[in-house]
Amino acid sequence: MLKLKDITLSVEGEQGNFNILKNINLSLQKNKIYVITGPNGGGKSSVAKIIMGIYQPTAGEVLFEGQNITGLDITERAKLGIGYAFQNPPRFKGIKVRELLELATGKNKEINLCDLLMDVGLCAQDYLDREVNTSLSGGELKRIEIATIIARNLKLAVFDEPEAGIDLWSFQKLAETFENIHAKYQTTIVIISHQERILKLADEVIIIANGEVAEITSKESFLADIVKRDMDCLCSKVCDKGVIPSAQCNR
Ligand SMILES: Nc1ncnc2c1ncn2[C@@H]1O[C@H](COP(=O)(O)OP(=O)(O)O)[C@@H](O)[C@H]1O
Ligand SMILES: [Mg+2]
Repeated sequence: MLKLKDITLSVEGEQGNFNILKNINLSLQKNKIYVITGPNGGGKSSVAKIIMGIYQPTAGEVLFEGQNITGLDITERAKLGIGYAFQNPPRFKGIKVRELLELATGKNKEINLCDLLMDVGLCAQDYLDREVNTSLSGGELKRIEIATIIARNLKLAVFDEPEAGIDLWSFQKLAETFENIHAKYQTTIVIISHQERILKLADEVIIIANGEVAEITSKESFLADIVKRDMDCLCSKVCDKGVIPSAQCNR
């Protein structure tokens, strides 16, 4: 359903042009979960931003359901059903959870707000009339943001390090939330993550390092390799290939 074809992304640096992404080729299928992992600075968020239309590639094409969407911006892609959860979700002072969810569901009256909150492990009674402000914890905010993504009934949803800044309990709930979404909806899910619990949800694991797709593998093979090598570095494969020196791995 989504194809990245020979995507290159360059920026101008002090020492001339610098390639953030080099010849990225990816093909995502409907209703699957993809987990993108790899070392920090490898280009994962840039790939997400290319998918969303936040970054325009220097070369290459983005195809969605057969349509060339390379020139479309984030709003136009949102209309096609492509959505993105931010690493740090915004807070909206003065807006209630109920209003935020209603905005997300739009005219679709079949989506029940209580069900939505239940999907992300929150009790509707406690949350619908709360303001989306600093009184919500990072984990609560993240789950409400995910509820808005479900509400939009997207075809493709991209989550960039959803575990960032939330406590362990919320994290467990988050992993369950992805399982629920996957079981109930037809959304294709792309999650950028280093967490084993999230990696275990993957139909395919995509390792991005040094601006390139270093490997596309199964969760079984990826996780087995970590155990076998007894390394705490999730990018062990990438390190062993010499793309990134092992010493630079920070997970
Ligand atoms: N807009 C930008 N301008 C300049 N450099 C950028 C920009 N966006 C990302 N980069 C650089 O590209 C590299 C990849 O970044 P990113 O995609 O955020 O990696 P990751 O998400 O894997 O940590 C990093 O070296 C980062 O500093
Ligand atoms: Mg990132």
